[in-house]
Amino acid sequence: MRLTFIPPTRTVLRAFLICFLILGTAGCRKAPPEPTGLVAEKAMVVSARAEASRIGVEILQKGGNAFDAMIATEMALTVAYPFAGSLGGGGFMVYRLADGTTGSIDYREKAPLAATADMYLDSLGNPDPAKSRMGATAVGVPGAIAGIFEVHERFGTLPMDTLLAPAIELARKGVVVTENQARRLERVRADMIAVNGDSILFANHCRPGDTLRYAALAETLERIARNGRDEFYKGETARILAAFIQEAGGYITEEDLARYQAKWRDPVEFTYKDLKIISMAPPSSGGVTMNQILKMIEPYDLSGMGMHSARSIQLFTEAARRAYADRNYYLGDPDFVDIPLDTLLSEDYLRGRMASFSFDAATPSSEIAEGELAAYESMETTHYSIVDASGNSVSATVTLNGAYGSKLYCAPLGFFLNNEMDDFSAKPGVPNMFGLIGAEANSIAPEKRMLSSMTPTLVERDGKLWMSVGTPGGSTIITAVAQTILNVYEFGLSMQQSVDAPRFHHQWLPDLLVFEPEGFPESLKDSLRARGYILNEDYTPIIGKVDGIRVLPDGRLEGGADHRGDDTAVGF
Ligand code: GLY
Repeated sequence: MRLTFIPPTRTVLRAFLICFLILGTAGCRKAPPEPTGLVAEKAMVVSARAEASRIGVEILQKGGNAFDAMIATEMALTVAYPFAGSLGGGGFMVYRLADGTTGSIDYREKAPLAATADMYLDSLGNPDPAKSRMGATAVGVPGAIAGIFEVHERFGTLPMDTLLAPAIELARKGVVVTENQARRLERVRADMIAVNGDSILFANHCRPGDTLRYAALAETLERIARNGRDEFYKGETARILAAFIQEAGGYITEEDLARYQAKWRDPVEFTYKDLKIISMAPPSSGGVTMNQILKMIEPYDLSGMGMHSARSIQLFTEAARRAYADRNYYLGDPDFVDIPLDTLLSEDYLRGRMASFSFDAATPSSEIAEGELAAYESMETTHYSIVDASGNSVSATVTLNGAYGSKLYCAPLGFFLNNEMDDFSAKPGVPNMFGLIGAEANSIAPEKRMLSSMTPTLVERDGKLWMSVGTPGGSTIITAVAQTILNVYEFGLSMQQSVDAPRFHHQWLPDLLVFEPEGFPESLKDSLRARGYILNEDYTPIIGKVDGIRVLPDGRLEGGADHRGDDTAVGF
């Protein structure tokens, strides 16, 4: 048989060219993955506790928008999830309105006026982690209440007392202790007693099924509902809080509280193939570092390498190694340091950073920059994602830093206080509790915000909302969020499969490729060891607890509530 070549027509050629461009830039337009998580028609909240997600959804059903739901959810988390959510902490929120307008708010804690660069150094000039991590000396000026009131003023539609009422009711009615919560409380019980004595509620052994009631917290929230933002920063609550912290040996004064302001900031926005990613700018490193990682990966055919293949793990790891080296050197509070963002995020610079990358062998971190090895520690913080029926979306990550923060429980007000001061570089070159080695840019100064890794993120595709995502996890937040996006986009997982998928992490220093305990076969690890990667052998933490929402092509929403915790998606 003779085969005849028939030249393609112009139309066929044009179709082929368009298809080629789409495949080339979009990493192949595959059919969107079928949802496996909760699917809702109109609106959804995903958070660390079912109680908080339900309260957020009830506000949406009452006609509130995503911002109203944010306020109610965040305050419900202070009751239901005191492990990380608290009036005594702070956070970041990124939003996208239904019309595509984007923005973000920074309600990160800041250093008190009495802070000095060497406040956590001992007489030999070495950092004293006991002072920056435990008790009153570790506490930064809390931003949570300033954050929710700023958001309410700009975007809220329901009255503040309506938004606070469910959290107040929950605090009075009580919250049932889950297995996870009981385990976590037991782990920190000795530290809580060391910091607070044995008369606080949490000095008791809490068992699954017990109910914890928070009468003092209910009263604090009632005063705030009645008197507004200034109750927390200038009123009776401020006076009680400042006196309590000082009596416990801390630095925060009434003046510190009175001077606190949340700040609206432009988010970091960038493209990854045909996605547009909107994430948090400094003083969080989340958006910038994720931008660097994804742009370093973008030129490669990641989906062709296969999810969790040695090559795709190598590529991600080498991009993360380089991005974290930059993070630790250049990033800090933009109100205090000049950050060369234009350079750090330019394609030329990032291509240059990857010039030394080869699939043949790991790049030792010592060749990227100098540093020391250190251990990873706790992975706290909490994230929630919200999409409302009009298409407004919110992605918020809030934290006390460590588990129950500084462990200091302000019993008269009913909440834990953060230990966010440990997120500063107490001494440049020496690791913090996440093993992150900071530089001068993140040194301590009065009223400066400490660098964060929180990465609340929204993603657009074809000009429409595609995903809201974020996670706790300290320094691992950034890689966990990036992997969650890639799992859906490159590897075809649903939202729920993506948040549940095993994760890995590298942060330049320590020069350690960290795998979660499950999901990575020994043969894969052997092939990475053979290429020079140093793997975590006996330290196998869980990495992140991601909560996200994916918008399906027909507009319905798929929730991804991480199976690693008590996280729950609720929608309607
Ligand atoms: N405290 C954890 C973070 O802000 O990254």
